[in-house]
Amino acid sequence: MGYLSQAIALRGRYRRRRTNWQFHLEKSKAFIIENSVRCPKKERVIVLGSGLLLDVPLDDLSRLFDEVILVDIVHLPQVLRRVRDYPNVRLVQADITGIAEKLFEEIACSRNELPESEPFIPESNGSASLVISLNIISQLSVIPIEYLRAKTNTGDETLMQAWCDRMRKAHIQALQKIGCDACLLTDYEFIYRDVKGTVIEHGSTVGELALPVPDQLWTWDIAPRGEIGPKISKELIVGAWRIS
Ligand SMILES: C[S@@+](CC[C@H](N)C(=O)[O-])C[C@H]1O[C@@H](n2cnc3c(N)ncnc32)[C@H](O)[C@@H]1O
Repeated sequence: MGYLSQAIALRGRYRRRRTNWQFHLEKSKAFIIENSVRCPKKERVIVLGSGLLLDVPLDDLSRLFDEVILVDIVHLPQVLRRVRDYPNVRLVQADITGIAEKLFEEIACSRNELPESEPFIPESNGSASLVISLNIISQLSVIPIEYLRAKTNTGDETLMQAWCDRMRKAHIQALQKIGCDACLLTDYEFIYRDVKGTVIEHGSTVGELALPVPDQLWTWDIAPRGEIGPKISKELIVGAWRIS
């Protein structure tokens, strides 16, 4: 559906923009470490959207918790190799929205219904101590909506955006109900600037999702000039929240 290409593209962007991304990655890791240290229980930590592990403080999590579960819809071979050295780290491949497979089948059968989200947090039973939603919430609808547009080239844009909003909201509600400590890290605003640094466009990366004031926020210099165009740069505003 495009999840693998998206992971490979993320790896390419990181390799090109490593220096620009460093601040964001370090801020994400620091927030995770701070909340891991203060977590009263240290049995199992679950990271949702572990991806390439760029923003995952793996050494610290492995040292602090009995067990580390890294959840993503795609784990690239480099990730499999990296976790081999950590006996208490496990990879789980899962779709945390429960939408991807249903959408694939809907379209394959030419039904084109929009399947509703069934949020899934693997391994979050009794011994989970901390769940971290890691820079994933703004990404949850990206592939489903692109796939839908590419395969059906029909659809009411307002209905589709409302569907994406429900996907994000369901994820937040699942975190709020989890029954252990949780953290949410996500970008929630994009900003495009021209060569002079003037803002030429900005908007939400999480649709209509209403988020409280974050415990921390910072700017991710995701696409400096040259990455998406010679005269334009893109930043993301990232927030981090503790959900107890
Ligand atoms: C922006 S990346 C997060 C960065 C990541 N922590 C890293 O260091 O590479 C978003 C991640 O969410 C994953 N993802 C997107 N939709 C997903 C879904 N429905 N279920 C599980 N993972 C998903 C992507 O595969 C990607 O790795």
